[in-house]
Amino acid sequence: MLRKIYLSLVACFLTLQVYAQVLTSPDRNLTLTFELKENGEPTYQLTYKKKLVIKQSRLGLETKDAGSFAKGFTVANTEQASVDESWNPVWGEVKTIRNNYNELAVTLAQQEPKNRNMIIRFRLFNDGLGFRYEFPAQPNLSYFVVKEEKTQFAMTGDHTAFWIPGDYDTQEYDYTTSKLSEIRGLMNASITENVSQTSFSPTGVQTSLMMKSDDGLYINLHEAALINFPVLHLNLDDKNMVFESWLTPDARGDKGYVQAPATTPWRTVMVSDDARKILASKLTYNLNEPSKIKDTSWIKPTKYVGVWWEMITGKSSWAYTDEYPAVQLGVTNYTKAKPNGKHGATTANVKRHIDFAAKHGFDAVLVEGWNQGWEDWFGNSKDYVFDFVTPYPDFNVQEVRDYAKSKGVKMIMHHETSSSIRNYERHLDTAYQFMKDNGYDAVKSGYVGNILPRGENHYSQWIINHYQYAIEKAADYKIMVNAHEAVRPTGIARTYPNLISNESARGTEYQAFGGSKPNHVTVLPFTRLIGGPMDYTPGIFEMDLHNGSHVNSTLANQLALYLTMYSPLQMAADFPENYEKFPDAFQFIKDVAVDWDDSKYLEAEPGAYVTVARKAKKTGQWFLGSVGGNEARTSKIKFDFLESGKNYIATIYADAKDAHFKTNPQAYTIQKVVVNSKSNLSQFVAPGGGFAISFIEADKNQLKGLKRL
Ligand code: NOJ
Ligand code: CA
Repeated sequence: MLRKIYLSLVACFLTLQVYAQVLTSPDRNLTLTFELKENGEPTYQLTYKKKLVIKQSRLGLETKDAGSFAKGFTVANTEQASVDESWNPVWGEVKTIRNNYNELAVTLAQQEPKNRNMIIRFRLFNDGLGFRYEFPAQPNLSYFVVKEEKTQFAMTGDHTAFWIPGDYDTQEYDYTTSKLSEIRGLMNASITENVSQTSFSPTGVQTSLMMKSDDGLYINLHEAALINFPVLHLNLDDKNMVFESWLTPDARGDKGYVQAPATTPWRTVMVSDDARKILASKLTYNLNEPSKIKDTSWIKPTKYVGVWWEMITGKSSWAYTDEYPAVQLGVTNYTKAKPNGKHGATTANVKRHIDFAAKHGFDAVLVEGWNQGWEDWFGNSKDYVFDFVTPYPDFNVQEVRDYAKSKGVKMIMHHETSSSIRNYERHLDTAYQFMKDNGYDAVKSGYVGNILPRGENHYSQWIINHYQYAIEKAADYKIMVNAHEAVRPTGIARTYPNLISNESARGTEYQAFGGSKPNHVTVLPFTRLIGGPMDYTPGIFEMDLHNGSHVNSTLANQLALYLTMYSPLQMAADFPENYEKFPDAFQFIKDVAVDWDDSKYLEAEPGAYVTVARKAKKTGQWFLGSVGGNEARTSKIKFDFLESGKNYIATIYADAKDAHFKTNPQAYTIQKVVVNSKSNLSQFVAPGGGFAISFIEADKNQLKGLKRL
């Protein structure tokens, strides 16, 4: 009894007073201040090297049926902890990742309407902050429905932002660079057409959001470990420069069904005065759980070619026939249909790609349009659109399986779901088993069109759970997943490393749909890639496409993308015949590795350039890639990442002086020079250009006749 009185006195005292607690990062550059205001509202504030990054901002959630988790709190307990450990990712940019943070867990209690509590857990790393809400199991709280998350990110000024429109269904937008205050005025122009899109506010933007302050701070807002919760968007209050959380609703408008014990995803703020540190940050992965897959030996970084770009550019089709405006699986008799003569996924064409892959050392071949149903695959809210096991008459599954096996090439399956979620789940076991039976270890899945069940969105909780289900089920079958149009990644691949890549942004396909901005690839590493790798599908050598569209990139820029767009799954997307036209440049794509022991970001500025050197796993060979933006530039780099005392032959694939993404994209030079760890390079980069380098350690005899840099 006495204890109770004492506790309520303490609680009373705390409610009347502002309660504050401070946490610093291991290197002491970042300081987080948690403060509970007089009315029991939790808030936080973040500084970096004594500069304010996030002004005092509100925390919490509002529910539909369980009151507020944003006010009326007292502090029941706080705990601090420090962690400094290392782990080795199954694949990645580096061999070992350090997970080093200081933690503050604040247990907040509410007496009214019922005695219950919520924990806010902060983790402060040297490169940023992560925090989440936790709802422990407790007598007075089991289920609740989220009305809105109330987390704020109050900016200190009118920063420059690299943003795409907030949308419940797609991230396939070009980035707009503008001041925060200009977002409203630029929103309409930024919303380009997509077959499934739902924007929600004239100042709504997506995460990962990259910003730069006038005094040179790079700030990135995103989320980590998005599991069983809707996607977090941000809505800018542009009078006060405060971002408010905006969760993706479900078909009923609800923003999350929660059952305690539960945790929300982490909300992340990365910050540095050096843009390269944002790219090198492993904060998002560190906030995810370790791998839940015990035996990961079957997860293999992969370089592949495919029957794909020919459909994207309109040269061939996914569909087998043009005779039927609509088809029904099991009813439509394809053997009676007249083939349209441009079906891409024929046994013969696939074999040609297998031959090409085998000849040039690629691991795998992707084939799209192999299965029945593509004649009317999206746009009609069609439920039973594909069964994922029935091939067209001109695609012989067994013959392809045996041929690929005989050539030592893996096949990559394609599952376009056309967003018919329940249909895919109904077929998933059969489809995965069919893959295993036919030698496929990886699947590219796709979610084009509006989600079925109708009214759900690509980023609502139920659909997030579907993507997760497909990944986990694939792991049971030892299948790697590369999901397109699914939710943008949030570091889940640490826990499920069979999520080998994702699209979930505007990929190379848009170069065939009218083109992307030339500096698009200098923004993606700061935004989309923060959460995980992207199947960007680079390697286009022929920029003027069959359908009249133009690829806004130089050939040398395309080579650099294999380094700057990190992914353990990389495609050489152009046609075999286009690679055969440029065998010397193609050599780089053949040589470049896809899995790394080390990565050094040498130059970086969002929207302008990214230069990275990477050391390959197994061989230890170094490669370097640099992409530029809209303007020409000179890249100045040091090769001090190379082992000192050794000589290397550097093969430099670069833009010719007169190269230009629009008018002269194929003008490149290749030169071989001798370099060592003391060499410096000053390299021209054309507008929309770049350069790529492969380094080979050489002994004295091999250096004869070669110029030293
Ligand atoms: C969109 C994907 O991004 C693309 O790669 C794929 O070819 C089509 N959907 C068809 O599934
Ligand atoms: Ca896509």
